[in-house]
Amino acid sequence: MKKVLIAYGTTEGQTEKIADVIADSLRSRGLDATMLDLRDSQDEAPDAYDGVIVGGSIHVGKHDKRVVDFVEKNRGTLTSRPSAFFSVSLDAHSATGEAEKYVDEFEEQTGWRPAKVALFAGALLFTQYGFVKRLMMKRIAAGKPGTLGTLGTDTSRDYVYTEWDGVRRFAEDFAAGLSAPGT
Ligand SMILES: Cc1cc2nc3c(=O)[nH]c(=O)nc-3n(C[C@H](O)[C@H](O)[C@H](O)COP(=O)(O)O)c2cc1C
Repeated sequence: MKKVLIAYGTTEGQTEKIADVIADSLRSRGLDATMLDLRDSQDEAPDAYDGVIVGGSIHVGKHDKRVVDFVEKNRGTLTSRPSAFFSVSLDAHSATGEAEKYVDEFEEQTGWRPAKVALFAGALLFTQYGFVKRLMMKRIAAGKPGTLGTLGTDTSRDYVYTEWDGVRRFAEDFAAGLSAPGT
């Protein structure tokens, strides 16, 4: 059974939920999927896996530092086997073009140019944010028209923008690539 590592960095938990759906999809295709929360450990060596998926969310215009560090440390391994990256942000929902820029910067910074990249919309979890974060995120969500103004601003509830079908397709595509002859 081929082994896949899903290493992810999350702050409010949405990237973890996405990683979980990816893991389930891979398992249902007969792969052995292991999730690695980079908050807990960055020492797992990905070279014991046949494929590696890395995911991270955006906060204040940047990918999670733990994800950047993990990729920098393991770039050689990531380029030597099937690997993919997914980026989680609100800009991916608003289609401003910013989500692509975050990934360009990430690739520039880490030197890793993954063959497969997915941009997934994240979540606005107003009910879980503290006072300052809630205020800040409400301002951002209200945004300028045409940018982030397509987001919800009712702070008494949460908004999840992730398109789960797209997440499953990404996982299925990765599984198909890994099962292809010669991989
Ligand atoms: C304090 C804060 C700052 C954020 N900054 C950005 C940002 O600059 N651009 C963006 O597209 N999304 C931004 N987001 C949205 C997150 O990417 C989104 O909430 C995502 O679901 C977080 O994923 P996580 O829970 O896995 O950390 C921000 C969210 C928070 C709470």
